[in-house]
Amino acid sequence: MECAIAGVAIHIHGRHDRIRSRRASPCYLRLVAISTPMSRIGMCAARTLRIIRIIKPQSAVETSMSNPFLNPVTTQTWANGRHIVRCVKVIQETWDVRTFCFMADQPIMFFFKPGQFVTLELEIEGQPIMRSYTISSSPSVPYSFSVTIKRVPGGRVSNWLHDTLHEGQELAVHGPVGLFNAIDFPSPKMLYLSGGVGITPVMSMARWFYDTNANVDMVFVHSARSPKDIIYHRELEHMASRIDNFSLHIICEKHGLGEPWSGYRGYLNQKLMELIAPDYLEREIFCCGPTPYMNAVKRLLETSGYDMSRYHEESFGATPAEVKADAVEHAEQAAEAAEVDVAELNEVEFVSSGKSIRVAPGETVHAAAAKAGLMIPKACGMGICGTCKVLKLGGEVEMEHNGGITDDDVADGYILSCCSVPKGDVRIEY
Ligand SMILES: Cc1cc2nc3c(=O)[nH]c(=O)nc-3n(C[C@H](O)[C@H](O)[C@H](O)COP(=O)(O)OP(=O)(O)OC[C@H]3O[C@@H](n4cnc5c(N)ncnc54)[C@H](O)[C@@H]3O)c2cc1C
Ligand code: FES
Repeated sequence: MECAIAGVAIHIHGRHDRIRSRRASPCYLRLVAISTPMSRIGMCAARTLRIIRIIKPQSAVETSMSNPFLNPVTTQTWANGRHIVRCVKVIQETWDVRTFCFMADQPIMFFFKPGQFVTLELEIEGQPIMRSYTISSSPSVPYSFSVTIKRVPGGRVSNWLHDTLHEGQELAVHGPVGLFNAIDFPSPKMLYLSGGVGITPVMSMARWFYDTNANVDMVFVHSARSPKDIIYHRELEHMASRIDNFSLHIICEKHGLGEPWSGYRGYLNQKLMELIAPDYLEREIFCCGPTPYMNAVKRLLETSGYDMSRYHEESFGATPAEVKADAVEHAEQAAEAAEVDVAELNEVEFVSSGKSIRVAPGETVHAAAAKAGLMIPKACGMGICGTCKVLKLGGEVEMEHNGGITDDDVADGYILSCCSVPKGDVRIEY
């Protein structure tokens, strides 16, 4: 049967259909997101415009004959923007970690720089919510991409995804973006250091170099709480067993009763580092894990004279306790810096909290809040996810966002505090 394209229409949709299951109807609508960069048309427009094609069912022969997956030459490639993707597989990696694999309905090659992340646009209990997740798969397997997500106790989105997201469900993703990637910092010798679910970006990098037979010498050091928490354990061992240029070292903090573990125990320290990677001073280092882990790694490297310009880290966002500690530290720094060039400082007033602070030109509203001892939630820190949105009541800011805020929100006076710099005195509702 001919595939009759009945028409092309522009469909205006509301928030309610952002996530939906594909129905097993013989003749269904395919929704294709227009993947135009956010900066060009704005997130609002991207949210509301979708092209609908009505496609008649195909016979089995036609399906295999015309299967666009068999024709990679005509397949489109992914560009930074908003895309509708469908969950095609859910993999239980460990007891509290799952991998969710996605594809587009129209075949798309998901090219990105290994280490980059996407931001999921969700609706939970009627509330729009966004969270960023690293792409854990590699662009060497480009027809789909995956994110690997750990349940965070009390966490809204991670638990919702584990409990709710299933095969066939569709959702919107923004990206790919991120400066923490293996392509922009090429080196013949890499050292990957990860803790817990912080393994995702370095796994993507390792998979990429493994799959492309790259002449890169990789040392992969992963710290897990216990053997049952090791994400991608078998795959890592498989990779290490097949190529000489991938050396794997797993460190477990502890192991449970009856849980066999013959590998390293405890925490990564100077001695262990010298044992595992005696040439670590010569390697490009990529580090991702909980904040205390990354702080310890940084201290270790700094004291051993490592060239920190070759150290790259990704933070998944601080826990509330860590944010509080950061805020206290910033407040202390602010007190120490009280003498500097007062005329140039901008006053940032946080109206609800009754606090104000004077900050140097170039400092963001988020940094100002931290200096004032206030904890505005923050996730990506790059104007993508929208977590740090606040209402500006007065004054002007320079905001350089990456699609994390709608034109409507901007018109209503909202700003993303992580990427907004005051241009004078400003008043913020917080
Ligand atoms: C660039 C980037 C990449 C990331 N990649 C990954 C990845 O690959 N895999 C992954 O699993 N995660 C990743 N993350 C983290 C992810 O974005 C989420 O932060 C994480 O899943 C937790 O979100 P949540 O909604 O479940 O938790 P949230 O609801 O945001 O809560 C986080 C924590 O804060 C606590 N909390 C929340 N509100 C309060 C409150 N009012 N008072 C006290 N405590 C509170 C919760 O109990 C929980 O412990 C990444 C983050 C970034 C920025
Ligand atoms: S923290 Fe993501 S937009 Fe500011």
